[in-house]
Amino acid sequence: MDKLIIKGGKKLAGDVTVSGSKNAALPIFVSTLLAPGQHEISNVPFLRDINTTIKVLEQLGARVDGNGNVVKIDTSGVNNFEATYELVKTMRASVLVLGPLLARFGKARVSLPGGCAIGARPINLHLKGLAALGAEINLTHGYVEAKAKRLKGARINFDVSTVGGTEHLMMAAATAKGETILENAAREPEIADLAAMLTKMGADIEGAGTDTIRIRGVEALQPASHAVMPDRIEAGTFMVAAAITGGDIRIHNMCLDHLDAVVFKLQDAGVEITHKDKVVRVKGPRKIAGVNIKTRPYPGFPTDMQAQFMALMTVADGASVISENIFENRFMHVSELLRFGADIVVEGNSATVKGVKKLSGAPVMATDLRASASLILAGLAADNTSEVSRIYHLDRGYEAIEKKLAGLGADIVRVKE
Ligand code: EPZ
Repeated sequence: MDKLIIKGGKKLAGDVTVSGSKNAALPIFVSTLLAPGQHEISNVPFLRDINTTIKVLEQLGARVDGNGNVVKIDTSGVNNFEATYELVKTMRASVLVLGPLLARFGKARVSLPGGCAIGARPINLHLKGLAALGAEINLTHGYVEAKAKRLKGARINFDVSTVGGTEHLMMAAATAKGETILENAAREPEIADLAAMLTKMGADIEGAGTDTIRIRGVEALQPASHAVMPDRIEAGTFMVAAAITGGDIRIHNMCLDHLDAVVFKLQDAGVEITHKDKVVRVKGPRKIAGVNIKTRPYPGFPTDMQAQFMALMTVADGASVISENIFENRFMHVSELLRFGADIVVEGNSATVKGVKKLSGAPVMATDLRASASLILAGLAADNTSEVSRIYHLDRGYEAIEKKLAGLGADIVRVKE
């Protein structure tokens, strides 16, 4: 297992480029199951979760050729309709193969994903939506067994805003007979990126990115090529890295308007953010002001930036209240941040952070993807040396983050544990 060793106190400076979005690439890879032939996906980040998705597609019989950030996927030879527990338990987004397999082959057997560190994360709304489209769903021995002669369009209203549920049903409805309306759909930019890919494949989709999506089913889809959108959470993480070190960096290849809520909160905290074309300059202030945040579905403050923002608030001038409204257990970074000398009190789904003058370097342990990023950010600001272990969590969602941070002047190295 690897760990990162960070010598804190360096102000970050220089240029960094954002990679393609993990949370757009995963459903886009899955969507290739809907159309036999060779698809070409570019701007793909090098991540463990991408490799896991490739393994799932290969297990189903697809041929995948990846070289650098371009991945060719040929799903003509898909002849297996089962996604096993071994793979689904390592990456829950694999459950998204269920809808496309049903749509194209009329049957599928996919392991239930089980819980994860940040919460139970059920898929009841995915399954309820597929049943509304006419699928026969049975749960046996930890697997979803589904059948459908031909999916039929339906009106579906989500009890809660679900990114995966919206993506899943948009894919399943693309070749269903008739029209599907998704109400109270999630509005995250990754959904619009998936819809762009599906449209290139021949789907007829309106309203992706809003809370009502209309999908008119078409007879068949064709293979397509698509460049994945930039990763807005990676971009937001670098913005916080500049803020917490009092640095001054330029971030390339990011879409600022995907991060409005984060930008506004960073500006409230005193961070200077300007942009020209696709280059965003982020200048950290001498002193960070305490700011309250509540995580919300897009366009609210993203839950995937909550841990990173909390790290920033641990060295703010004043207090901040952070409430996590999406997942029931997404404060696992708190106990590790306390090891840096942070002052945080958690009550239910809210954490009160009182800024301290300085964090002190410490050995800490990553518990989930975004918690790992939060600990690195704290290490960058802490004095002396910090060690972050179990960074396999980090490798799921950040492409070579230690190299990118070192490129900005951070003193950070990866070593074998
Ligand atoms: C996606 O997860 C992202 N993952 C998550 O990013 C992100 O945190 C989350 O959306 C929220 O933005 C990918 O895109 C691969 P949800 P997803 O369905 O789709 C409840 C990261 O760090 N819910 O929007 O699984 C659920 O329990 C990861 O990159 C149901 O109750 O999230 C949660 O409380 C972490 N029933 C809420 O909805 C369902 O059927 C939002 O979950 C589905 C969801």
